[in-house]
Amino acid sequence: MVTVIFGARGNVGRHVAAGMISRGEQVRPTSREPGTAGFPPGAQVVAADLEQPETLPAALEGAERVFLYAKPDGIDGFVAAAESAGVQHVVLLSSGAVLRTDAADNPIARMHAVVESAIEKSDLAWTFIRPGMFATNALWWWQQSIRAEGVVRMPYADARTAPIHEKDLAALAVTALTEPGHQGQAYPVWGPESLTLREQVQHIGAAIGREITVEVIPVEQARAELGKTMPSIGVDAVLAGWEAGRTTAPQVSTVIEEVTGRPAHTFAQWARDHATDFR
Ligand SMILES: NC(=O)c1ccc[n+]([C@@H]2O[C@H](COP(=O)([O-])OP(=O)(O)OC[C@H]3O[C@@H](n4cnc5c(N)ncnc54)[C@H](OP(=O)(O)O)[C@@H]3O)[C@@H](O)[C@H]2O)c1
Repeated sequence: MVTVIFGARGNVGRHVAAGMISRGEQVRPTSREPGTAGFPPGAQVVAADLEQPETLPAALEGAERVFLYAKPDGIDGFVAAAESAGVQHVVLLSSGAVLRTDAADNPIARMHAVVESAIEKSDLAWTFIRPGMFATNALWWWQQSIRAEGVVRMPYADARTAPIHEKDLAALAVTALTEPGHQGQAYPVWGPESLTLREQVQHIGAAIGREITVEVIPVEQARAELGKTMPSIGVDAVLAGWEAGRTTAPQVSTVIEEVTGRPAHTFAQWARDHATDFR
């Protein structure tokens, strides 16, 4: 049974591919640039672009399962290609933003809702993974200044978030793809523990064996800094999430352990897994 893995060198997708391979499953990793590095060793990577639906029939031919990233442009083409290829189950990496009370006005929620809705209306069976903030965002926010100066500059150092390890999202996806009972399920996934941003930086410092200084800066300065490495839609989401975490405890969840049978990784474990990224 072939499983097509979109984004097979992405933070989550690469662990989905590795997890499927370690279970002895036949995978077909895809990329818009299959000739580049970063794929599981020995994998035959197929060219596919979700925003170029004409590339999809060949990538999906004979496949029964798909791990999918949310790309609203081209989703109707994906659904048509998956239905005609005989795909039976799609596991979508969606977003917890779709659950927000203001989802209709939130651009991140809207882009994921469009994809969920197209799949729900199709003949495909589906599982939606709806995560909150990824721990990997810390690479975007803090990697450069930690490596260069041993400093993190941010506005709300005592705000709390509950970051999620990408390996946990991948383990959830692999379980949903390979075990019965997950079709028609939507899983909100928050991290397992609530930590202040300052505590998260301390965990990174402990992982790399270096003291990291936290400098509190004004929000507008942070917006400009984050905008150097992130799209504005992402900057707005991050700053809104941090601001909310000043006064509201973030949601945490136990869904990873409930579904996969293994406890979710802590942020300290994530920091150790990524220590070389911060050195
Ligand atoms: N960051 C968060 O806090 C957060 C929270 C909730 C949900 N999410 C969801 O998670 C996603 C990010 O996951 P991630 O960190 O694993 O992403 P990532 O590391 O940026 O990887 C994205 C993958 O998607 C593939 N991709 C991009 N455009 C594509 C296209 N047009 N057609 C086919 N493949 C395409 C890329 O593959 P190639 O470059 O090889 O083609 C890449 O491997 C977000 O976009 C969002 O949907 C994120």
